[in-house]
Amino acid sequence: MLNNILVIDDEMVICELLETLLKDQGFSVTTALSGEEGIKKFKEGTYGLVMTDLKLPDLDGIKVLEQIKKHNPDTVVIVMTGYPSFETVHSALRQGAFDYVPKPFTIDEISFAVRRALAFRNLKETNNQLMRELAEQNSRLEEKAKERTQELRLLYKIGSDISSTLNLSEVLSIILDRISGILNVEICSILLLDETNKDYIMKCAKGLDNAVVCKTRVRVGESISGWVIEHKEGLLVENIETDPRFQHRNDEKYYTRSFISVPLLSKDRVIGVINVNNKKSKDIFTKDDYRFIKGVAAEATIGIENARLYQSLEDSYMRTVLVLTSAIDAKDHYTNKHSQHVCEYASAVAKELNLSEEEIKNLERACKLHDIGKIGIEDTILTKPDKLTPEEWNKMKTHPSKSAEILRPLAFLNEVIKLVEQHHERYDGTGYPSSKKAEEITLGARIITVVDSFDAMFTDRPYRKALTKEAAIEELKKGSGTQFDPKVVEVFLRVLEQSLSSQSGI
Ligand SMILES: [Fe+2]
Repeated sequence: MLNNILVIDDEMVICELLETLLKDQGFSVTTALSGEEGIKKFKEGTYGLVMTDLKLPDLDGIKVLEQIKKHNPDTVVIVMTGYPSFETVHSALRQGAFDYVPKPFTIDEISFAVRRALAFRNLKETNNQLMRELAEQNSRLEEKAKERTQELRLLYKIGSDISSTLNLSEVLSIILDRISGILNVEICSILLLDETNKDYIMKCAKGLDNAVVCKTRVRVGESISGWVIEHKEGLLVENIETDPRFQHRNDEKYYTRSFISVPLLSKDRVIGVINVNNKKSKDIFTKDDYRFIKGVAAEATIGIENARLYQSLEDSYMRTVLVLTSAIDAKDHYTNKHSQHVCEYASAVAKELNLSEEEIKNLERACKLHDIGKIGIEDTILTKPDKLTPEEWNKMKTHPSKSAEILRPLAFLNEVIKLVEQHHERYDGTGYPSSKKAEEITLGARIITVVDSFDAMFTDRPYRKALTKEAAIEELKKGSGTQFDPKVVEVFLRVLEQSLSSQSGI
């Protein structure tokens, strides 16, 4: 295209001269004898250079120049004139002419002007090409930056979701929900290092049977997860069937093609592994997916460590508090078995009544802690062999509130405290400390009242002997609807009967 030159001049001899001269130099030359013809040929062809006379019979050369520039601003134009006044040359250059050649010209003059013009055109073309490439590159970078920003935004959101809870099961569930939702995968799972510090156990999964989740246990170096643990680095495998590293390693308990496996690294220690298998779209995982999962793994590690730390703090507090309750139980003539029985009875009734796992856990804790407030009651009252005086009884009735006060600083026991506070409320509203009645009393507290009262009937009290099982059952029935929630009594008696008939205990 650069070799194509259009010559516009009304003098046939000039056209022929330039055609011969430029063809000899290897150019392809088209000639036009008028401005209109020149413009028409220019629009029909592709030219690297146009040489036009300024004085044409039909159109002013400046007009021709204007039309050419309008059609293609990059075209290099040399104007030729036999009347080179300052005004005409200035006007042509202002309209975008690259150079002018006064007539008559020599061969050297014209050759020099053409070479110079085409070198300029070449440079401009190269420059344009570079600018186009730069623009494309910028656009790609901009697109990449947008994707990265979006990815960081997602990771921030996931991190914030994970830190919204300190419950490990919820943390794991949030991690897998976000991964499967964003990458639209068939299977994803998390393995965590167990307390023996040897085995990695599958703790949470999506898209896998429960049987697989319960059985999956990996050691360093075993299977794909074991490889990731051993090498402390992640894996992006496009197709396991064709990846030479894993031809003999596809011994996972589920079928997989493309997968990502990344370690959960905490201070150079692998605390677990995230495995992500098979996109629903059947596409293979990309490097972007891999980078995203590594980002999620970093957030997940923080969330898991925090949840475990919180759990161990909770456990430590609970152990301390339970030491106190054992001391109270001993003073109150209860044995460890009483506490254990109450927990088992309460848990069995709660399951029958479809309470959630979390509610059952709180109920069991409340069963162990509800009388901790007796630590604030004088021994003379607690161990008095006779019936209490009204004044002593009033003091005794403060123990649920005292229990709640002792536990109040432990925020993780908030739900437990409600149950503790209400464990001496009565269904008919004549209990203490708040005279709540029926459904105003939390269900967990209504369960504790039934099972604790029942088991206490088997213990010798300072003021009466232990009852037989039959007598205790009669007492429960008698108190149903007054002291006890009839529904809870009914469920408890059913649970008790099943337990007795299986002779296995609850
Ligand atoms: Fe109590």
